[in-house]
Amino acid sequence: MITPRIAYVVAIDANRLIGRDNALPWRLPDDMRWFRAQTMGKPCIMGRKTYDSLPDRFRPLPGRLNIVVTRNREYDAPGAVVVHSLADALAAAGAVEEVIIVGGADLFHELLPQVDRLYLTDVHGAVEAQAGAHDVFFPPIDPGQWREVYREHHPADDRHPFPFTWLILERKELEPQITQISQILSENL
Ligand SMILES: NC(=O)c1ccc[n+]([C@@H]2O[C@H](COP(=O)([O-])OP(=O)(O)OC[C@H]3O[C@@H](n4cnc5c(N)ncnc54)[C@H](OP(=O)(O)O)[C@@H]3O)[C@@H](O)[C@H]2O)c1
Repeated sequence: MITPRIAYVVAIDANRLIGRDNALPWRLPDDMRWFRAQTMGKPCIMGRKTYDSLPDRFRPLPGRLNIVVTRNREYDAPGAVVVHSLADALAAAGAVEEVIIVGGADLFHELLPQVDRLYLTDVHGAVEAQAGAHDVFFPPIDPGQWREVYREHHPADDRHPFPFTWLILERKELEPQITQISQILSENL
């Protein structure tokens, strides 16, 4: 049986901000197209708050299996699969090549040790702080653990208040390093 690759699709600003008051902190239409392209046809797992935050016409996200995680046994999301644990969410995705974690912050924190690929929109600039706002953030990642396999810059323009860069990062394999270290040790002992 295939073990799916777990991938995040996320846009973060310079402070790792990803959400404010249960909405995106910016409007970047071309990034929405990137999101669509990276997620289309793939199972998409999201926290209940992210699912609730989707605009009506994109809920459920068309062309994708929407899997919503909640602890609320009463929660219903017509057109989506509702599950009550991350393990059930991954099982509901099935034996596919890649499962997408759409967010939000809760899920990004909880699944970080398991994620293999990041479709990352690096928004250049910091969204201004706003008193009383409920901000959520992406967890810190160790850049040394990730290998860049794709980069594309998008300038700011009249539709995009911030410039940004699309990146695809893959987690470096630990195994070759461990093998190398044990080889060095065995040669020198
Ligand atoms: N910039 C980006 O790329 C991006 C992407 C996605 C989302 N966002 C933003 O992120 C914000 C939402 O993120 P968030 O962290 O507040 O919420 P979230 O992660 O979307 O959802 C949290 C909810 O998911 C459920 N949940 C989480 N872990 C669970 C588990 N292990 N088992 C069962 N249920 C679990 C709980 O639902 P119940 O409370 O129903 O039990 C929890 O309250 C919004 O502002 C959204 O716009 C940004």
